[in-house]
Amino acid sequence: MRPKLIVGNWKMNGTLKETRKLLFQLSVEWTPKCHDIEVAVCPPFTMLLIAKHALDETSIKLGAQNCYCEEKGAFTGEIAPAMLAELGCTYVILGHSERRTIFGETDNLVSKKLRSALDAKLTPIICIGESESERTGNETEAVLLRQISESLATINANDAAKVVIAYEPIWAIGTGKTATPDEAQSAHAFIRADLQKKYGSIASDIRILYGGSVKPDNARALLAEPDIDGGLIGGASLDASAFIAIVEAAT
Ligand code: PGA
Repeated sequence: MRPKLIVGNWKMNGTLKETRKLLFQLSVEWTPKCHDIEVAVCPPFTMLLIAKHALDETSIKLGAQNCYCEEKGAFTGEIAPAMLAELGCTYVILGHSERRTIFGETDNLVSKKLRSALDAKLTPIICIGESESERTGNETEAVLLRQISESLATINANDAAKVVIAYEPIWAIGTGKTATPDEAQSAHAFIRADLQKKYGSIASDIRILYGGSVKPDNARALLAEPDIDGGLIGGASLDASAFIAIVEAAT
């Protein structure tokens, strides 16, 4: 049994004023129904502390959008996993395609970050997914296999049970183009089959989220698929009503 998980990825958005407003709306619009599933938001680092206080009365958990792989030291501009844990974060998104394409993060770096996040008792959300040209070139499966084996290279089956995977086809992120429920389900089933080969029966406990233009009107159909265990929501998570509607669609 895999409890559904909906995660809002706020990316680099929101002034202090806008963030306070969004947090307030989330806490006001939070419905009893929402308590049935796990929900988290991942604000920018600078907003984590106010988010922690503002969401105290809800069951919304906190996550960060990235971290570094070292515990401390001369790594200007980076944030250690333990710093996030200390602020009350439960989750950390790692290897998002924007980190990979804009900031040059490799599978190897993602695997090191994954190891340190687990050591700090954070739950890593590892993002994988193919680009448009990889999909049209029939390379989707090869890309997913490579990303899974290299990004998860530092962990064993015991650790794998603590990891969340997010399948985010790059062509669907922020574009309004969503994978159809069938396309997403078949990628998720493929990912789970590979996890099964690597980690055995633990694979049936690993949550695989779908991300890429999830909105209130397409969430229900996607989340009804057997291997889609939740969503990683970008744009729509910046609107409290839309985000809550997606959460409700998952219940
Ligand atoms: P989107 O972003 O929902 O805006 O497509 C998803 C993500 O990048 O995690």
